[in-house]
Amino acid sequence: MTKQKNIRVCCGRNCSRENPERLMEILEEHFKTPRGTATPEVDLDFRSCTGYCELGPNIVVDEKIYHHSKTKDIAERIEKETGSTITKLSIDDLHLDEDLL
Ligand code: FES
Repeated sequence: MTKQKNIRVCCGRNCSRENPERLMEILEEHFKTPRGTATPEVDLDFRSCTGYCELGPNIVVDEKIYHHSKTKDIAERIEKETGSTITKLSIDDLHLDEDLL
């Protein structure tokens, strides 16, 4: 059984300039978990400033902070590095906004 991942997208003042709402939507789709809820695999929500504003946008996964998280593969990277067994969507399924990522 996979350990539950605690994923938090920073929505502090500086990271908010980088559209954390869109980052959250990508993670919700990828991990099939709505924000503010938890499954056995993922607990997903927003959080306040991590203190690393200049390295944002930041996503905190358990004890690790992912800096500069505005990349196309952030959900896949989190999944790969945390050993999830969740079936992932293809990047084409995410309907990404090219101007964001
Ligand atoms: S606002 Fe996100 S780390 Fe400070």
